[in-house]
Amino acid sequence: MPVITNIDDLKRIYARRVPRMFHDYCESGSWTEQTFRENVSDFDLIRLRQRVAVDMADRSTASSMVGEDVAMPVALAPVGMTGMQAADGEIKAARAAERFGVPFTLSTMSICSIEDVAAHTSKPFWFQLYVMQDEDYVDRLIARAKEAKCSALVITLDLQILGQRHKDLKNGLSAPPKLTLSTMADLATKWSWGLEMLGTKRRQFGNIVGHVKGVSDPASLMSWINEQFDLTLDWDKVKKLRDKWDGPVILKGILDAEDAKAALAVGADAIVVSNHGGRQLDGALSSIRALPSILDAVGDRIEVHLDGGIRSGQDVLKAVALGAKGTYIGRAFVYGLGAMGQQGVSTALDVIRKELDTTMALCGRRRVDELDRDILLVPRDFEGTWQTG
Ligand code: GLV
Repeated sequence: MPVITNIDDLKRIYARRVPRMFHDYCESGSWTEQTFRENVSDFDLIRLRQRVAVDMADRSTASSMVGEDVAMPVALAPVGMTGMQAADGEIKAARAAERFGVPFTLSTMSICSIEDVAAHTSKPFWFQLYVMQDEDYVDRLIARAKEAKCSALVITLDLQILGQRHKDLKNGLSAPPKLTLSTMADLATKWSWGLEMLGTKRRQFGNIVGHVKGVSDPASLMSWINEQFDLTLDWDKVKKLRDKWDGPVILKGILDAEDAKAALAVGADAIVVSNHGGRQLDGALSSIRALPSILDAVGDRIEVHLDGGIRSGQDVLKAVALGAKGTYIGRAFVYGLGAMGQQGVSTALDVIRKELDTTMALCGRRRVDELDRDILLVPRDFEGTWQTG
């Protein structure tokens, strides 16, 4: 058994175990992948201030997100097709999150259904909603999430149409994978993944198949999105959706201060500064670069979370010290899941917590609410001087 000391270790095992089609789905940004790359590389531009001779006893990474206690300010992000990265992937990831004490967010585009994840977990998880044209279907999804006792609704706002990801088109991404010569040649080298997949019945979009009439090709994410996503989604509709949910609503995909103010106006409880992991508008700012201006605009009135580029506890610390109340990991937990199933997700969370804890200590901080700008060295022009208008 290899010694896992960081998220990259899991990523290497992941790349060997998971079929190329699903590996590439996870490991893609749209078009040139500039935003996808900068989500990670912009974190490296921020440096840390080392402090010494500070009492380091009794440290804690505990915090809260939308009123829920969390063992560290990191939730599992909604990731489409997680159940193709490993058999029953959403259930495994949700169980690892539950054990660790952080929220798990189930994607609308999951393989395991809302009911299935609820039946295999004992604590409430969060549900991520995509807004479809079929209002009745959206209402039923919300009702199903309520029935499953989901404790927050995460509404994604940045995917009414899909940013083009070259690899997915070339690989013919589908769930379950279509058997062509090239997928079969690849699957032949990924036999442990295949054996586990043969042992589960969960191989299709569980929230869709059997729940929507007249869907021509539920196997393909692209055709589903092209046919079903609501192009007319606007802030009035977001407000109506907000009012249909009694608990906390988190609006995901905010990258602009004006949109952050609109999110506040419709009564969101939190926003996620996000460019969808660099998978939608290539050329958009990285999440960590966009964060400060959004905090300036609304940070004192709404919880601001961040996803995109978090691969270590140091990244978590940087986002939180800048002012984010919480962060999300997507790829970092998927690497663990594909590499080692539920244990791999637990390992990814352990790795991140250890990095966060040690970095806090070396920066002279013992608690999450003590993390502030004072421990960061942020380049003077970090946000960039851009000309707009
Ligand atoms: C869907 O959420 C995707 O990014 O593929």
